[in-house]
Amino acid sequence: MPIILAIESSCDETSASVCADGAILSNVIANQTIHEAYGGVVPELASRVHQQNIVPAVQQALLNAKVSKNDIDAVAFTRGPGLLGSLLVGVSFAKAFALARKLPLIEVNHMQAHILAHFIADVKPQFPFLCLTVSGGHTQIVLVKDYFDMEVIGQTLDDAAGEAMDKTSKILGLPYPGGPLIDKNARNGNPDAYKFPEPQIPGFDFSFSGLKTSILYFIRDNVAKNPEFIEQNMADICASVEKRIATILLNKLKAAATQYGIKDIALAGGVSANTGLREGLTALGKQQGWNVFIPKFEYCTDNAAMIAIAGYHKFLKNDFVDQSVAPLARMPM
Ligand code: KG4
Ligand code: ZN
Repeated sequence: MPIILAIESSCDETSASVCADGAILSNVIANQTIHEAYGGVVPELASRVHQQNIVPAVQQALLNAKVSKNDIDAVAFTRGPGLLGSLLVGVSFAKAFALARKLPLIEVNHMQAHILAHFIADVKPQFPFLCLTVSGGHTQIVLVKDYFDMEVIGQTLDDAAGEAMDKTSKILGLPYPGGPLIDKNARNGNPDAYKFPEPQIPGFDFSFSGLKTSILYFIRDNVAKNPEFIEQNMADICASVEKRIATILLNKLKAAATQYGIKDIALAGGVSANTGLREGLTALGKQQGWNVFIPKFEYCTDNAAMIAIAGYHKFLKNDFVDQSVAPLARMPM
């Protein structure tokens, strides 16, 4: 029944999606390449590019979905967490669109949406399930009791897993965002070539800053002995780093699944696009007898389809916000 237009602009992807009765009809993602030269997302530039991209992205999403502006029943948008200047563009657009067309507005938490992306697929996890949510800004193990009843049972105390990928790639002289490049190089490397330490953090929390430092020292010491070290061993370094990050994540996930006695296990967030992590989780799932849920690639990194599906489930609950809503850089689950 409802046709929802969804907007995502929390970081450096401008995305618009249309969903009809929970089925995704379009998912347009405009990537920002401007940040490559800076080695990371420059917030001011990100918001300016969102400003340029938002209207064309929405027009394309409507076109791809073969619906007109008049068909839209509600507008869902990412309220947070994210970069404030980036969020402002999407929130302002959503509010303006809803105001002009007298439509209800639906706020969506970006981190909840990464998890709810699993409800786009035909085969869905059963509540309660555990979700390992790994992105550029977050690393969490979430106990998902219902669509909007989620409890973070473990999280990073410092860097996020994606940040560890991106910082490693920066050390290796690769452009931003480094995660996909670590992944690509790792496919030709030996994951056991180098051993990086596994942090000993109690409970289900994570830490990646020590790993980053040990990678930095490892590269520095080896380059001092052999200036060609990185070029000659790129694939092995990437494969070894990827394996360590994946084992840190999966060991905690296994401990959490055991303690909570849960067998439906999901993966979400940009780092869930990582081949080593996907393969590692699939293998662990087989060994543990889990039902493993891994999103399609296009729903791993930031996208508005996940905002649309989250918006759809809020629509069903009549959970709307008014025009006074403002973005939140930090937004708890
Ligand atoms: O969820 P996301 O698109 O944006 C945030 O909300 O942060 O996640 C982006 C993160 C970046 O750190 C990026 O390097 C990482 O996801 N990433 C990957 C891969 N694709 C994206 N990391 C490892 N392997 C990949 N294939
Ligand atoms: Zn994200």
